Amino acid sequence: MKNIIAETKSFFLKKYGMEPVWFAVAPGRVNLIGEHTDYNDGFVFPMAIERYTVIAAGPDNAVDADVYSINKNESATIKLDGSATPSQTVVWSSYIQGTVQNAVEAGLHPQSFRAIINSNVPLGSGLSSSASLEVATITLLEAITGQKIDPVQKALLCQKAEHLYARMPCGIMDQFISTMGCEGYAMLLDCRSRVPKMIPLNDPDIIVLIINSNVKHQLTGSEYPDRRRQCEKAAQLLGVPKLRDTTLQQLKETQSVFDKEPNGNICFRRARHIVTENGRTVAMADAMVRKDWKTCGKLMYESHVSMRDDFEITCTEIDLLVEIAQSTDGVIGSRMTGGGFGGCTVSLVESSKAGKISKTITEQYSTKTNIEPVVFATCPAQGAMILENE
Ligand code: GLA
Repeated sequence: MKNIIAETKSFFLKKYGMEPVWFAVAPGRVNLIGEHTDYNDGFVFPMAIERYTVIAAGPDNAVDADVYSINKNESATIKLDGSATPSQTVVWSSYIQGTVQNAVEAGLHPQSFRAIINSNVPLGSGLSSSASLEVATITLLEAITGQKIDPVQKALLCQKAEHLYARMPCGIMDQFISTMGCEGYAMLLDCRSRVPKMIPLNDPDIIVLIINSNVKHQLTGSEYPDRRRQCEKAAQLLGVPKLRDTTLQQLKETQSVFDKEPNGNICFRRARHIVTENGRTVAMADAMVRKDWKTCGKLMYESHVSMRDDFEITCTEIDLLVEIAQSTDGVIGSRMTGGGFGGCTVSLVESSKAGKISKTITEQYSTKTNIEPVVFATCPAQGAMILENE
């Protein structure tokens, strides 16, 4: 994290001719298991990763805020007076404006500021670059105003920014873990009660490997909301508030109801993924407590198959990455992570074999696809924080 902070700080100094006063940092995340279960009130099992969005800021004498993104090489003006509304097109600054607007509505009134934003969370790869930007933004507002927001409230304000300003009807997982991640722990989150349970993930023999397939196949952009609607339809056919409230047995007994509906078979399979995925997520957290890595790995592979066949959110390149991982010595478990249709896989591997595993997977994947993947290892990182200027 030190490098990216130093880089952001010196950029600020060069651009504005003064030292930044406030620093906010928020991590990206990887989800170990529990995909698309959050908006079904189910369980997720993410951890924050050692990739961050950093904001360095200082006071300004204007009415609005001036923000500059190093990654996009672009400036934007952010309204601080509570008069912002979502714009027609979603751009990088929409996430900042949405978060600021929600924070202002919730009672935070930051003075005018200028800021440099920098991120080493791979953008658009299923590692929550947007959530880390939202959470870094709201954390910066806490630094500027000296006011503290309750962490759950913080995550909810960021989620609302994503809903309204990015028009992405996401669940709560990404904003929650970016806000509340803990170094050395993965987080089993019950998305209904919003009560997290921290599970140690600090065995030196095991490491988490993230592999970016470098593909993204969203065809219409409506794949995520479509899945959400199909889950809601399934819950309605089952007569339950959310898919969290049903069992595999009940689902099987209701099959004939699904059969009578147009696209009933699709909704049935979506529901089967959610119900079985909730079970796997709780089981994996349990297995991790016992350091039963074999069971963890088995559950990850099963999760991938369920995402591939029932939820239909994987793609050939991602399936290939998991297939290669499964036949590579030292890989304990592997699956796609995040919203889907490309992005990254997450694997649990034996630390001593991590170097060789990265090499094997990179070679085999690039030979078969002509695409160079990006592989990196990470430990569970700390959630958002305000840093003192040193
Ligand atoms: C995206 C959303 C999350 C979650 C995942 C899938 O990352 O932002 O809320 O639904 O997809 O598990």
